[in-house]
Amino acid sequence: MNLQFANRVAVVTGGGHGLGRTYARELASRGAIVVINDIGCAPDGLSTAESVAGEIASSGGTATAHLGSIADPTVARTLIEETVDRFGRIDILVNNAGFTTMTDFTSHALADLDDLLDVHLRGPFAATQEAFRHMERNGYGRIVFTSSSAGVFGRVGGGGYSIAKTALLGLMNIVSLEGMKSGILANVILPSGKTNIEVRGGARVPSNDRLRETFGLMDSFLAPEFVTPLLVYLCSEQCDVSHRIYSVIGGRYARVFVGVTEGWMAEGTTPPSVEEIAGHLSTIDAMDAWTLPLSAEDELTEVAERRRIFPPRGHSPESRGGPC
Ligand SMILES: NC(=O)c1ccc[n+]([C@@H]2O[C@H](COP(=O)([O-])OP(=O)(O)OC[C@H]3O[C@@H](n4cnc5c(N)ncnc54)[C@H](O)[C@@H]3O)[C@@H](O)[C@H]2O)c1
Repeated sequence: MNLQFANRVAVVTGGGHGLGRTYARELASRGAIVVINDIGCAPDGLSTAESVAGEIASSGGTATAHLGSIADPTVARTLIEETVDRFGRIDILVNNAGFTTMTDFTSHALADLDDLLDVHLRGPFAATQEAFRHMERNGYGRIVFTSSSAGVFGRVGGGGYSIAKTALLGLMNIVSLEGMKSGILANVILPSGKTNIEVRGGARVPSNDRLRETFGLMDSFLAPEFVTPLLVYLCSEQCDVSHRIYSVIGGRYARVFVGVTEGWMAEGTTPPSVEEIAGHLSTIDAMDAWTLPLSAEDELTEVAERRRIFPPRGHSPESRGGPC
């Protein structure tokens, strides 16, 4: 399989540095026209949207820089509009821009939550909504959202960053379900890379010696380039998955999913007592069998089938499993 992107137009937000820079370069090296958005100079001053566009141009690729904060929804929408005005279409949107924080929950200012939601949720919402309209008309689109294991699994001190990153799963759910009929695929990645990402509120240091040692030993596997191949696959025409979450860390590529245990079916038609819930908690919790609902409606239908309200539909092997 040789994945090429000739005539495909891609937007990478926060593409001036770190992970986004590697995405932009790899997409361009495979023929995509890449629009690189960034606020300007990354905190360490190493590279910018313009310098990445320059690197791509000097290797024979096509790229253009767009300067502006994705945290401003007007800028986010304009980024997409200008891309379509200039190149006639948008095929790929990589929502990547962001910064992180280290703040204890009790000292977290509400205003800081707004800043995090602006860059990680509202910006991607606005850019994606604008891109979705164009992609829908073309019957084709690939959208990737950048969440974080600090969001999906949590991180002490993750604060609003973790919260905003988890909210992206909700955005991806809606975009993937509503995009399916128009050839728009949307997925989430949880990347991990040594990038000097801006950390506001405190340093992101390993919380104990073992973790510090682990980071040191894993160093060579934490290059941003380890994340790039999965991201680029999710942006490709050959990609045939949507509504999924993938984790990349230390050269390990894995699917992350939200499943439902088989649970306990209350007998009869009246609600169970609190004591019955307490008595069945181990069955409710048991992870030896689970399903993976494809939507909220799917979960309801599944339970209706178990109640024999509907005949069973027959499930794809991937929507059921266990033990996990
Ligand atoms: N590096 C990791 O281990 C890691 C882990 C989980 C998630 N992530 C996520 O991956 C994404 C990329 O992070 P990175 O590690 O490459 O960081 P990075 O700092 O190297 O790159 C992020 C880029 O986004 C830009 N940016 C920040 N705010 C912006 C805004 N409002 N508008 C436009 N551009 C903006 C920065 O200038 C920077 O160039 C982020 O969303 C981050 O939260 C990274």
